[in-house]
Order: sequence, then C-alpha cells, then structure tokens
Amino acid sequence: MKNIKRSWAEPYKMKMVELMKMTTPAQRKKAMKNAGYNTFLLKSADVYIDLLTDSGTSAMSDHQWSGMMMGDEAYAGSRNFYHLEEVVKNVYGYKYMIPTHQGRGAENILSKILIKAGDIIPGNMYFTTTRLHQELAGGKFEDIIIDEAHDPENEFPFKGNVDLNKLEKLIKKYGAKKIPYVSIATSVNMAGGQPISMKNLRELRTLTKKHRIRIIHDMTRVAENAYFIQQKEKGYEHKPVKEIVKEICSYTDGATMSAKKDALVNIGGFLAINDWDVYEEARNLVVVYEGLHTYGGLAGRDMEAMAIGIGESVSDDHIRARVGQVIYLGEKMMEYDIPIVKPIGGHGVFVDAKKFLPHIPQDNFPAQTLASEVYLDSGVRTMERGVVSAGRKANGENYYPKLELVRFTIPRRVYTQAHMDVIAESAARVYERRDKIKGMKMVYEPKYLRFFQARFEKL
Ligand code: F0G
Repeated sequence: MKNIKRSWAEPYKMKMVELMKMTTPAQRKKAMKNAGYNTFLLKSADVYIDLLTDSGTSAMSDHQWSGMMMGDEAYAGSRNFYHLEEVVKNVYGYKYMIPTHQGRGAENILSKILIKAGDIIPGNMYFTTTRLHQELAGGKFEDIIIDEAHDPENEFPFKGNVDLNKLEKLIKKYGAKKIPYVSIATSVNMAGGQPISMKNLRELRTLTKKHRIRIIHDMTRVAENAYFIQQKEKGYEHKPVKEIVKEICSYTDGATMSAKKDALVNIGGFLAINDWDVYEEARNLVVVYEGLHTYGGLAGRDMEAMAIGIGESVSDDHIRARVGQVIYLGEKMMEYDIPIVKPIGGHGVFVDAKKFLPHIPQDNFPAQTLASEVYLDSGVRTMERGVVSAGRKANGENYYPKLELVRFTIPRRVYTQAHMDVIAESAARVYERRDKIKGMKMVYEPKYLRFFQARFEKL
C-alpha cells in the first residue's frame, strides 16, 4: 500500500454544463477556408474544444455568480468598486487602483502617462498589446529577457528572468532618464508562460532603485508565476501562493492587469500604482478612455465578480489544479514526441512549429499553418504565436521572432482531463502526417496587431 500515489483532482464540481458542438471534417474544411486560415476568424460555433486563449474564457464559481446579483449599478461610487479596491490592496498590496475594461485599457493609460517620445522601455520579452501601446506613446521596447527564453529546448526553470547585464547596458547607452520604467511580466506569455524568480526580481529591484527607475508589473498571470516559485525556488516550498503573490508585487511600483486571465472573470482589468501623482493623472485620463474612475468601463457586477475571482485565484488548491492540468497535457504531448517549449508553462502548452514543420520557412508561416491543421483534424482551436503575431517594426520590416509557436491555451476550470487526451491525440495525428503539410501566404494584412484579422491562402 505504501507506494500508491496521491493524485490531485479539480477542487470544484459541476453545477451547470455547456453543450458543445461536434463538427465533421467537411464542415471544418469549409469553416477554415472561410476564416482565411486564421483561427481568430472562425466562428466559435464551429469550434469543438476552444484553446484559442485563456483570456475571458474561465468558468466563474457559484460565489462569483451570486456576486453578479449584488451588482450596484450606480454611475459613481458603486459599492462593488470599493470592494474591488480593498481586495487589490489586500491581495496585491498596491496602494491605488483604477478599474479598466481589460488589460490594454490600463496599458493605454499608463503608457500615455509615463512614456515620452524617444523613451526606451526594457522588458522581459514583448507582449503584443503592451508593446504597441508603448510604441504609440512614442517609446521603443527593448528585450532584456535572458537568452534561455528564446530557446524552446532549454529547461532552465525561470526563463522569464531578466538579464541584468542587458539592462545595465541599456542604462549606460541611453541614460536612466530615458527609461521611464522596466516592464516586467510574470509568467511571460510569449516565452511559453515562463516564470520569473523571486531572486531575479529582488536583484532587479536593487538595480532599478539605484538608478531611480520604476518597475511596472504586467500581473496578468501573477498567481501562476507564484505557483512555479513555490514549486521550484528554494525557500518558498512551504509558503502559500497568496504570500508569494504579495511579495512579487512588493518589488514593483505599479501594475497593469488583465483580470480575464488569473482573476477568473470574463471581462475586466485594472491599473494599480503606488505613486499618488501617477494615480491622479490616471484618474484624469480614465474618464477620457474608459469611464469614471469608479467603474472604468465595467458594470458594478463585473467589478464584484473580479473582486471575488481575485480571492479564488490565489488559493493553493485552485492554482495546483489549474497549472497541473496544463502540465498533464504537456506531458501527454511529450509522450507522442511532439516538440513543445520546455519547461511546460502555466497557461498553455506551446508547440514548437519550427521543429514540427522544419520544411516550412518562417515567411510561409509554420505556426499559422499548424494551428489551421489542428483545427482541420479535430475542431480544436489554437493560436499562432510566431511571425504573424510579432508584426512589423515602425520602419515596416517584419519582426522575425526566434520562437515560432502554436499555443494550446487552457481556459481555467472549463475542460476535463478527457478533453486533454483528445487534444494531445489530435496534435499527434497531425504530427504523423507532418511531411505532407505545406505552408501559406498572407493575402490580407491589417495595420495594427495583424494576427487578429490577417487572412491566408494555402500554397
Ligand atoms: N498582458 C499579457 C501578458 C496578456 O497576455 C494580455 C492578453 C494582455 C496584457 C492584454 O490584456 O486582452 O485584457 O487587453 N492576452 C490575451 C492572450 C489576449 O490571449 O494571451 P487584455
């Protein structure tokens, strides 16, 4: 009896279910063609298992749903705003908070306040909307993530870490005055959901303090990062995720949050800041772009669901099952020899399309092609995170990222372990016939964030 393992299981049970649609190969072929081979342009009604994103796709708890009934839909001073403000202060420790309709609403306001034309914003790998707002405000993003992050095979446990030498070089080259803040994401999305270590954050705090540079935290997936610290960083193995989250935030000066991820809501976000001056300015700007500073584009009920969701998101039981499900899928894929980014990240499994389809050059979009092939096989919808997502530089040249990935993103509390099996089997079937797959050409390209609406044709 001694060796029987003790599995984790979901710390929730089902009270309501949403019926899914099964599709035929012929239906999928037609739907994919109509969508210009871009999974963003598929109708959700044509999708079986939807792994496009973990953003806004979580299942809310019974507590959150009952919170929705407590919505105080006053234009100003809704009680749900005060609840949310208190939760952000207690759980994350930031002094001031302004709700926004989602993460990019906060990014817009913050970039407008802190960035001047010609400024440099170093960060641990770019994120699409974050970098675009920095650029629209006149800034230039510089990648200071460690080199290991660009190598899908490298198993370093904290591939979200900042290379402090790269940052020091930038400070030397441009001067600290040109750097309004360092942009730090926890669970770095484009690197494959890779965490930053507490040690690295602490060292970054020391360096930035010396040069009086702020750290702004993209805390969209901070709880998942905290879980990896608990699992992998010495000294944190007995700390609850809740405490680790608060410590992470304590090394930063402010944050933008897309609550559609970690915080288990379908819409919402906020900007948090410890600086009174920045807060005042943000309170001014939020009225222009989002709404009054006590609702920021959200209904009272949305703020209530967010306040409750934040509490649930930092529970150890929740986060173990959440990340555990992602790891289960990743390990299944590895059993089929599918090349994935290692270590397995927090919010999804990232398949290495360069390795999967080595005969397709980056100009013919291997990751975009692979995402459409997986859909054709099984109706599983995934997302390109490669050359299409990277877009173009201000001078019109394409960015060619080292990472050419397809993200199998897992919504929180939505799918079962049997779904994970079906997904891995579908990826394996496509892998088996990989030699026969041809690339694509882009036939329509929007100016901003092209991955959302671009259209393709098969070669
Ligand atoms: N920062 C990160 C790290 C994100 O992953 C996202 C959104 C945002 C900011 C922007 O937040 O969507 O609420 O405006 N990521 C989604 C994704 C879209 O699928 O990864 P938003």
